[in-house]
Amino acid sequence: MGKTELADSVRDTKMLFSRLAKALGSNGVLTGAHITETYTSDWGKDRMGRCLAVVRPASTEEVSLVCRLCSDAGVSIVPQGGHTGLVGGAQHPDGDCILLSTQRLNTIHQIDPDNLSCIVEAGVVLESLQTSLAERGLQFGVSIGSQGSAQIGGLVSTNAGGVRVLHQGMTASHVLGLELVLADGSVVSSISGLHKDNRGPDPLRIAIGGEGAFGVVTKACLRISPQWTSSATAYVGCASFGDALALLRHLRMGAHEVLSAFEVMSDACLPLARYVDPTLIPPLTAPVHVLVEFCSTMQLPLDSLLEAALASAMEDDFAQDAVVAKSDAQAKRLWALREGLVEGHSRRGYHVRSDVSVRLGRLPEAVSSLEAMLATEYPGWIAQSYGHLGDGNLHFNALPPESMAEAEARSIGTRIEQRIFDIVLELDGSFSAEHGIGRTKAGWFRQTMPERFELLGRIKGAFDPGGVMNPGCLLPVEGGS
Ligand code: LAC
Ligand code: ZN
Repeated sequence: MGKTELADSVRDTKMLFSRLAKALGSNGVLTGAHITETYTSDWGKDRMGRCLAVVRPASTEEVSLVCRLCSDAGVSIVPQGGHTGLVGGAQHPDGDCILLSTQRLNTIHQIDPDNLSCIVEAGVVLESLQTSLAERGLQFGVSIGSQGSAQIGGLVSTNAGGVRVLHQGMTASHVLGLELVLADGSVVSSISGLHKDNRGPDPLRIAIGGEGAFGVVTKACLRISPQWTSSATAYVGCASFGDALALLRHLRMGAHEVLSAFEVMSDACLPLARYVDPTLIPPLTAPVHVLVEFCSTMQLPLDSLLEAALASAMEDDFAQDAVVAKSDAQAKRLWALREGLVEGHSRRGYHVRSDVSVRLGRLPEAVSSLEAMLATEYPGWIAQSYGHLGDGNLHFNALPPESMAEAEARSIGTRIEQRIFDIVLELDGSFSAEHGIGRTKAGWFRQTMPERFELLGRIKGAFDPGGVMNPGCLLPVEGGS
């Protein structure tokens, strides 16, 4: 860009922000020192983004105006929710963009207990939605550790998974309709609240898992369900991931309808939760730790059903030891061991993070291949195998030796990521199970799925011809990686 062009562009951008501030109020546009790390850094604090301004619209009309003005000015728009996505979807590296924060779009418009649906704005935090629903004896089926920060727009845009997928499905299976603002400011809605609505395919569903590349999700109509009235939680020790899989098979055959979570952690993971709360000690020792949850809307004796199922698993030798929580408080403590892992890993410092999936029967093989790779090729690094065995979703993380400098760890970490990717692909698995593509996996996406990549690019052209919506996320920018 020449000197004159640069001056024109700075003047245009200044004009854009002053128009936006006029329309949204000064609270609606943050620039300069007001752009704090809360917006630019991701939740794990290991990826920093940049932006020209943070724009905080408080209504669909304001989002529409922001999109229209930014498109006209050729300024890119990076939508951002609770930034708990972990793949850099809301962190633009060059900063030649605005961050469109959905935090002020936080109204729950409707909870309809007859229709079992609700209509919420994108910035509603998952935990607030659950609280409002619980007051009415209802619930939303997606449960993730970051529910205190994660927002509905982000859940939809990343098709978030979490710990109940084996029972409830991913976020996509809860979305009845969406309201989407396109790059040119047009507002398109498929929210009818109807459970059966076959008026042709809903093109807005491309925004589910679309990571903001097709438009900004401003509202969602979600399927909800009655609150459970009975539940039971057990902490089980298994000798191996193979035995944990046998335990899952056993529980599914006898209790499929009530099996609402089945989470696993290798023994090496457990000390990590103590970075968050030093009093978190597992109730048993075993090579593999499993959290099992039964839930039902019926008043069932789930504690005794779970105890009986575990007793027979122990007789058959695929469970070594088990503790059934005696109270909700004890169940919460057991869950805290699992839920503390992401934060525990972040508090320890830089680490390799992954989110892969294989068919359930291959998960034990995936864990042994990945752990063997790390032990032989990168001695000193600590393997952390944990995740959602009930959905074949593994988070295989690698912690560098404490003494290793961060820069060196990061450079080795990139090679480890590639090895994880290769091993998972050899097992016909996916390098992204529930976190999405974001910016960290956009190169792999293009490289391994060229037909899907190309078709998605063409569809994006229909939604966002100028390419201003979250460039580089999901679909890498031309010439980039
Ligand atoms: C979890 C996040 C990493 O399962 O998806 O804890
Ligand atoms: Zn997960």
